Amino acid sequence: MLEIKEFNKIIVANWKLNGSNDFLEAYFEELDSKNLRLNVCGVICPPTAYIQNCYSKLHSLYLGAQDCSKFKEGAYTGEISASMLKENNCIFCIVGHSERRQVFKENNEDIKIKAAQLLNEKIIPIICIGETLEQKKMHKTHEVLKEQVINSLPPNSSKESVIIAYEPIWAIGTGMTASLEEINDIHEYLKKDIKEIEDYKILYGGSVNSKNASEIMNLENVDGVLVGGASLKADQFSEILKA
Ligand code: PGA
Repeated sequence: MLEIKEFNKIIVANWKLNGSNDFLEAYFEELDSKNLRLNVCGVICPPTAYIQNCYSKLHSLYLGAQDCSKFKEGAYTGEISASMLKENNCIFCIVGHSERRQVFKENNEDIKIKAAQLLNEKIIPIICIGETLEQKKMHKTHEVLKEQVINSLPPNSSKESVIIAYEPIWAIGTGMTASLEEINDIHEYLKKDIKEIEDYKILYGGSVNSKNASEIMNLENVDGVLVGGASLKADQFSEILKA
C-alpha cells in the first residue's frame, strides 16, 4: 500500500463519466508538456474503461478508480471488483461519491463493504461524505457527516490506509464552494472530534479550480483536494497540481 503519510498534499482528479481515447491522448500530451515536478501525490481517476490506457501515460501521477463492486466475484453482470482494479494498477479508489449515493442509491453499508474489499486488495479507499444544502440550512452538517463517517468506515480502517473526502453536495459542479473558514472548521471537526477518524487525511471537494485550489489547500486542516470539472482540463489540473 502506498505510504500516504509521506505526502503533504493529495490531489485527486475525478473524471466521472467523461473521456475518450482521443481525449486521453491530448490530455497527457498537454500535461507532459508542462514538465511538472510534483511534490504532492497526484491521482487520476478515469472511467474504468480507460484505466489501462491512462496507466501507460501517467508518469509521476498515480492511478485511481471511481468505484468498485461490493462483490468479490460471481454472477454480477457489469461489476468490477477490487482485485480487478488491483491487477490493473489502481492505487486509490473513490467510494461513496454523492453521485453514487444519490443516483445509484448507495448507502453507508454498501460503501463500508466496498471500502473493506479495497483494503483487502491494499487499495486506498477515498470515502466521500457531504451534506445537502437543506441539511446545511438546518444546521445538521456535523451530525450528517458523523453519521456517514461512522457507518461507512470499514472495521480494519486506519489513518494510513483510508482517506476521507468532504464534499458538500451543494458545492459539487455548481461553482459554489464552501467558505475557507467553513472548510477549515469542518475539517477540524472531522479530524479532532470524530475519534474514529482522528488525524485521518481529509480532502475537500466541490467546485475546486485553478483559482481557488491553493488557498483551500493552504488551510491547516486540509490535506488535499478532489477535483471534478476542473480536472478535465489539463492546463487547469496542472495548475492545481502546482498550487
Ligand atoms: P466538481 O466535482 O469539482 O466538478 O465540483 C467534484 C466531485 O464531484 O468530486
